[in-house]
Amino acid sequence: MLFDKLNFQRLSAPPKGLSFDCSDEDLNDFFSNASYPHQQELVAVTYLFLVKNTHRVAAYFSLLNDAIKANAFPEINQSVPPEKRYRSVPAVKIARLGVDKEFQRKHLGSEIMSLLKYWFVYNNKTGCKFILADAYNKKGVIEFYQKNGFTFLTEKDKDKETRQMKLDLKPFALRMRELYLI
Ligand SMILES: CC(C)(COP(=O)(O)OP(=O)(O)OC[C@H]1O[C@@H](n2cnc3c(N)ncnc32)[C@H](O)[C@@H]1OP(=O)(O)O)[C@@H](O)C(=O)NCCC(=O)NCCS
Repeated sequence: MLFDKLNFQRLSAPPKGLSFDCSDEDLNDFFSNASYPHQQELVAVTYLFLVKNTHRVAAYFSLLNDAIKANAFPEINQSVPPEKRYRSVPAVKIARLGVDKEFQRKHLGSEIMSLLKYWFVYNNKTGCKFILADAYNKKGVIEFYQKNGFTFLTEKDKDKETRQMKLDLKPFALRMRELYLI
């Protein structure tokens, strides 16, 4: 079981001496050089899976608070009952996500998605209805998000480098309530 070999932690210092390579230079560079400064500025928090007894990072992800503006996406707000509508719908954004190339296609990315769904529903400290991501507009990446329940936020970015994707946490919350009576 892959998880038995990994330690999960919140970034607590600059990740000096840790090795990580997901084959994407921007994501590699963000992890090595920008993740901790973002955290110090309270702009994004990074979490990582470290291979036990090594300095190898199997995967990391960075999160920040976000919202879907109701005037830009009226159909999103319409999915909320009228008396509970505001100018924006609360969300969490996956600002960065990378799985080291040696650990890709072993469902670690999907396990991270399951963890996030759980985190932002069960005992969450604030309201959060959506998980958002700006997915690279590449077949494998889009397929990954779709397999994990995400859909496109808009068709306007279909020819752009990244596509905004969303996952509604409400159905997941209802399932959790049914299963665990929470
Ligand atoms: C995209 C990424 C996060 C996916 O994580 P992962 O742990 O490799 O993905 P999973 O093993 O959970 O994949 C789940 C499903 O997504 C799809 N998928 C994932 N990677 C894919 C790829 N390269 N090509 C086609 N489908 C892919 C498959 O349907 C897969 O299911 P299967 O392996 O049973 O067929 C990871 O490959 C990665 O970090 N890539 C480089 C950086 C990157 O592009 N990050 C995304 C930024 S938006």
